[in-house]
Amino acid sequence: MPNLLPEDAPFSPSQRAWLNGFLSASLGLPANGSAAPPPPPASANGASANGVALSGASANGASANGVATLAAPAHAEPKAQAEPKAHAEVKAEAKEARKAIVYSRDDPFPARVLHVEPLTGPDSAKDVRAVALDLAGSGLRYQAGDALGLYPENCAELVEEVLEALGATGEEPVVTPESRIVPMRVALALAYDITRVGENLLGVLAAGAGDEDEAKALQELADEDARDWLKGRDVLDVLRWFRSCQAAPEEIVASLQPLQPRLYSIASSQKAFPNEVHLTVGVVRYQAAERDRKGVASTFLADFNALRPGRKVSIFVHPSPGFRLPEDGNTPVIMVGPGTGIAPFRAFLQERRALGAGGKNWLFFGDQRRHCDFLYRHQLDEHLSDGSLVRLDTAFSRDQAAKIYVQTRMLEHAAQIWSWLEEDAHFYVCGDAKRMARDVDEALHHIVMEQGQMPQSDAKAYVQSLVKARRYQRDVY
Ligand SMILES: Cc1cc2nc3c(=O)[nH]c(=O)nc-3n(C[C@H](O)[C@H](O)[C@H](O)COP(=O)(O)OP(=O)(O)OC[C@H]3O[C@@H](n4cnc5c(N)ncnc54)[C@H](O)[C@@H]3O)c2cc1C
Ligand SMILES: NC(=O)c1ccc[n+]([C@@H]2O[C@H](COP(=O)([O-])OP(=O)(O)OC[C@H]3O[C@@H](n4cnc5c(N)ncnc54)[C@H](OP(=O)(O)O)[C@@H]3O)[C@@H](O)[C@H]2O)c1
Repeated sequence: MPNLLPEDAPFSPSQRAWLNGFLSASLGLPANGSAAPPPPPASANGASANGVALSGASANGASANGVATLAAPAHAEPKAQAEPKAHAEVKAEAKEARKAIVYSRDDPFPARVLHVEPLTGPDSAKDVRAVALDLAGSGLRYQAGDALGLYPENCAELVEEVLEALGATGEEPVVTPESRIVPMRVALALAYDITRVGENLLGVLAAGAGDEDEAKALQELADEDARDWLKGRDVLDVLRWFRSCQAAPEEIVASLQPLQPRLYSIASSQKAFPNEVHLTVGVVRYQAAERDRKGVASTFLADFNALRPGRKVSIFVHPSPGFRLPEDGNTPVIMVGPGTGIAPFRAFLQERRALGAGGKNWLFFGDQRRHCDFLYRHQLDEHLSDGSLVRLDTAFSRDQAAKIYVQTRMLEHAAQIWSWLEEDAHFYVCGDAKRMARDVDEALHHIVMEQGQMPQSDAKAYVQSLVKARRYQRDVY
């Protein structure tokens, strides 16, 4: 069969064979003596980007587990009678066909992990990582302000503990939410959420409980008012606590919630890094109900290279049309991004530098301590040196007795913020939704009221007009 795909095209051998067959047939080239392509392999390559083999066909190759698959184009009619084409023409058409494969949430791209590096120092109370993923050959395009979706894998140790609590070997075949049949160990690793306890699980455990008291307690837990006990607890806690359940492990697994992808603000500009995407990941680890807990996706990424060398991670671009740089490169920009909220502003700064945009850029960054939590410090210094950042105001909350937050700095520089706003500046906020974004919003209202010398109602209308004009945008989580 002729090889119509470039060597660096991101396909597995089975995907490659199928696509070569399909292209040969549709271009009228002989392919193993037959013009028709072989049938697509089950789930196109039968393996997830994470390298775990899955069985069972998927109608369109879609998988919430991040199995990057090929969907045959709708016009996949073999053209056995077509005239043979020139080699260059065939190659060009193959290139076009490859471009037509658009990776998405349903068909994520298996990306190589280029590096995972610490951004916080050893003294930090936090663990924040810079993650870089390889987009080469994906055709994926993103804009500064977009987020990246990522399918995580559950912690292998936790999967083993859940299997033990279920009394299962892990080899039992189970059906995933996408109707694939896979060994239970694979389903627990890739397809089901084992850190959140849903109503279905409580229902199945209650229905199968051999002990009456347990059944009653489980029924009560399904009630909203009794949910406090569940806070901070996961599937393993519940299985270990309610041991009398007679339900089959397969039934219990089927009652779990599907594992969802996580979103991360993209921290790079594709103008500066055409074949890469960068993230700023705050690693979630905490203690609750007497056990160490791990955030699924953030620890999956943090430990990726150590635990899964050479493997890939399934990703897709999640566009954020409501979080964009101004179209006019001369427009001034004010960015407020404490903690991991700095991520999209790193992308904004790279983008504006790459475009040679003349507009002034001002960043407010804050975190706990300067010496160990100053994320991207050296890169920000470079932006200050080359003028792509004209002001950087920092707020390190724990370097002194009284808390200093980004809004403290905003209020200190109220007159300049007002003057930038009057020059049509765009105002952006990214990071914590619960407290920071609310307090920054309050500070902005205060500045408008004080500096614009207007009553509260007019200040509110002024800020609303900024929102309406898309000059006040937020990416908060
Ligand atoms: C648009 C968008 C952009 C985002 N961008 C970024 C980004 O740039 N960087 C980034 O790091 N994150 C970002 N996030 C958050 C990210 O998507 C994940 O939610 C985060 O990484 C945690 O996911 P996880 O799978 O590691 O944790 P999960 O397994 O989802 O666990 C998180 C849960 O653990 C619990 N929890 C966490 N800490 C504690 C604690 N101390 N005590 C008790 N319970 C706790 C909470 O219930 C929390 O919801 C973004 C989210 C959105 C929606
Ligand atoms: N869904 C999830 O599981 C998940 C996971 C990771 C992050 N997040 C979200 O992402 C946010 C960012 O996390 P992060 O650790 O990078 O940063 P962060 O917690 O927002 O901390 C960054 C800085 O903001 C300060 N801060 C605290 N309260 C503030 C307020 N009301 N106004 C302004 N600044 C305030 C902190 O100070 P102090 O610490 O000294 O108070 C710290 O100096 C988190 O707050 C959380 O909401 C969610």
